[in-house]
Amino acid sequence: MPIMIKTPQEIEKMRRSGQIVREVLEHVRKLVKPGATTQDLENGAAEKIRELGAKPAFKGYRGYPCVLCTSVNEEVVHGIPSTNRVLRDGDIVSIDTGVIIDGYYGDSAITVAVGEKLAPKTKRLLEVTQASLQRGIEAIKPGATLGDVGAAVQETVEANGFSVVREFVGHGIGTRLHEDPQVPNYGMRGQGQKLREGMVLAIEPMVNAGKPDVQVLSDGWTAVTQDGSLSAHFEHTVAVTAEGAVVLTQ
Ligand code: MF3
Ligand code: CO
Repeated sequence: MPIMIKTPQEIEKMRRSGQIVREVLEHVRKLVKPGATTQDLENGAAEKIRELGAKPAFKGYRGYPCVLCTSVNEEVVHGIPSTNRVLRDGDIVSIDTGVIIDGYYGDSAITVAVGEKLAPKTKRLLEVTQASLQRGIEAIKPGATLGDVGAAVQETVEANGFSVVREFVGHGIGTRLHEDPQVPNYGMRGQGQKLREGMVLAIEPMVNAGKPDVQVLSDGWTAVTQDGSLSAHFEHTVAVTAEGAVVLTQ
């Protein structure tokens, strides 16, 4: 499929979906505490999305059962909310959600510490992953390449001794949740697709404290680190404009 270029009017609509995604994530962030289950987060998100007049983007997507992905500790992405998964002090949980409103999608993720007992290295993992997303966003402008974006993310991660997941990538987004191009979180400067004004991309680094390898559990969704190390995930939906990147999900 070709890369879909958005008009300023379409980008305004995507700003609206992006703002709803942000509101949902900020609501769910407040529900994260020791003793809460990932299903509690799911229920809070589903209610909020409804309240805001949007539709969940993930539920029913390729048969995915929920409005959130909740990935705890060594879970990388696509963890399925469950009443059996109780959050403990010192855990980390990544919360990923998307919505559609007025025909346009928004997609964003955060990783949150549970309680107060976060190990220093875990805190560092969260900071570096968020910083790598920020560096990737800063590399965006018309004429830059996807390799510039991937390299910026990868360098930030690896300079801090962590590793970038290769099996999952970011994506174009618009009237579909996943559009071309794919947006890897690694790459070489000057290589790959050139960015153009009107492209909208979901940038979503997944960063492991240990080795980059992942595997998918028998539920068909939950991706975990092969070495059991912790993993973090941050994501924004970003428009390419003449002035550079505009983050639609903040
Ligand atoms: N942010 C992820 C993505 O863009 C989440 C998709 S979960 C799914 O791929 F259930 F919708 F597949
Ligand atoms: Co995404």
